[in-house]
Amino acid sequence: MTIHLVGAGPGDPDLLTLRALRLLGTADVVVYDRLVDTRVLDLVAPWAERIDVGKRPGGPSDAQERIHTILLDAAARAEVVVRLKGGDPFVFGRGGEEAEALRAAGMDVAVVPGVSSAIAGPAAAGIPVTMRGHASGFTVVTGHEDPANSHHLDWDALAHLGTTLVVLMGASRAGTIAERLLAAGMNPKTPVAAVQSATTDAQRTVRTNLINLENHTVDSPAILVIGTVADLDVVGDLMEGRLVPKANFDHLVADLAS
Ligand SMILES: C[S@@+](CC[C@H](N)C(=O)[O-])C[C@H]1O[C@@H](n2cnc3c(N)ncnc32)[C@H](O)[C@@H]1O
Repeated sequence: MTIHLVGAGPGDPDLLTLRALRLLGTADVVVYDRLVDTRVLDLVAPWAERIDVGKRPGGPSDAQERIHTILLDAAARAEVVVRLKGGDPFVFGRGGEEAEALRAAGMDVAVVPGVSSAIAGPAAAGIPVTMRGHASGFTVVTGHEDPANSHHLDWDALAHLGTTLVVLMGASRAGTIAERLLAAGMNPKTPVAAVQSATTDAQRTVRTNLINLENHTVDSPAILVIGTVADLDVVGDLMEGRLVPKANFDHLVADLAS
């Protein structure tokens, strides 16, 4: 029996892969997370059973175990089982743990990658995560580290990488993240964009810089983009043939480059 671990993308159903769409139309059971967009769930076949296993903040600590049990139970009684996760299943979605647990229980697991919000979030705001003259790489990290994880993020090192920093699950800790990077010596003028609810009708982008990040409210779900690219909107409005700067940070970008 195969359980399909499927990426639902960041929100907009047009960003689903063709394979995901096909599986949603044929699944007997779809087990889905909190961040899966309702428009994506609308594509599930009407006869299919839908099980919401979305974990709310402060939810029970055994939630992950419970999800494994629900999936194994579904696999025992249904032909096609889809485990649907926001974005890509292997980017901070505990997809790795679920795949391991299912394999240990004797299941086959097929992974369908999805468009991660780590990429789609910046793109939806017109921010290229890499760009000549700005950043020759990007680093994706969590803003909400698991205290049980022994591989702690080295924020001092992150502050000096010189790549665009993309932070997931950082909305409620934006101020703390800024503090850590500033303490590590990152330039206070470094542009920051917080892209909230990317690719949905509620999408909103806050543009600021590192020193002022703590003065902004960032609503979850959001992607924090930290680096000179965060001031760009390369698909935005033109004024006299030039892109309108987002927060008049052009001079800051020049400062940072010097
Ligand atoms: C548990 S992680 C899952 C990430 C997911 N697997 C992915 O690849 O996008 C949840 C975090 O993803 C980010 N996220 C997911 N969807 C988003 C969206 N539409 N807009 C902005 N951020 C989003 C937020 O940082 C949120 O806290």
